Amino acid sequence: MATRTQNRTSSRSSSPSRSSSTSSRRSDSGRSNGGSQREDSAFSWGGNNTGALVGAALAGAALGFAANFGRKFLMQGMSGLSGDWDEVLATEHDMTMAIFDKMLATDASQTFKRKMLLTKLIHALDKHAHEEEMVVYPALREANEAHDADLLEGEHGYIKTFIYELQQMGTDAPNWLEKVREFRALVQKHAHMEEEQVFPRFKERMSEEQNAKITSLVNRDGFWMA
Ligand SMILES: [Fe+2]
Ligand SMILES: [Fe+2]
Repeated sequence: MATRTQNRTSSRSSSPSRSSSTSSRRSDSGRSNGGSQREDSAFSWGGNNTGALVGAALAGAALGFAANFGRKFLMQGMSGLSGDWDEVLATEHDMTMAIFDKMLATDASQTFKRKMLLTKLIHALDKHAHEEEMVVYPALREANEAHDADLLEGEHGYIKTFIYELQQMGTDAPNWLEKVREFRALVQKHAHMEEEQVFPRFKERMSEEQNAKITSLVNRDGFWMA
């Protein structure tokens, strides 16, 4: 029967970090090196190169941040230059419809192109929905237009359902184009209601100051989502 000490010893020796002869050699060399058992590894933060490595990492992060910032300016600039908030959103509707049209012009052999276009569409819809849900619809509710805001936000849920369904389908599925066509029709109807009814009615009642505020908030939200 094993004693407690024997058990501790055997459990130690069964530990992968201590069981090999390499580790005993390591501790021997550690003792001969003034008792220090620290070793440099690929993941070590010690040593003379640490400063250079950290500097390079920070420079890389700064470059990445600057590139991302530039990309955001470019992305939001495309719709943000359109003018007031409702014009920004209408431009984004047009850009989204153009992606749908490119998707509808593909055939089942162009699976890679379909995947790329679907990714682009999801990003465009996601950014646009965020601007509306975080700025425009809350402002509508504040102006006693909660019914329209709730209806439109509910439709965004069905837009996400189409995205979910398309992501589950293969891009070479026989009914892919049919699904995209149905999806486009829903987005078009939704955008039409916003552009022709809800947004003009809301804008008509706005002060210039409120209009400028909503425009600024939509652009800021779009920038961070770009
Ligand atoms: Fe919307
Ligand atoms: Fe919209």
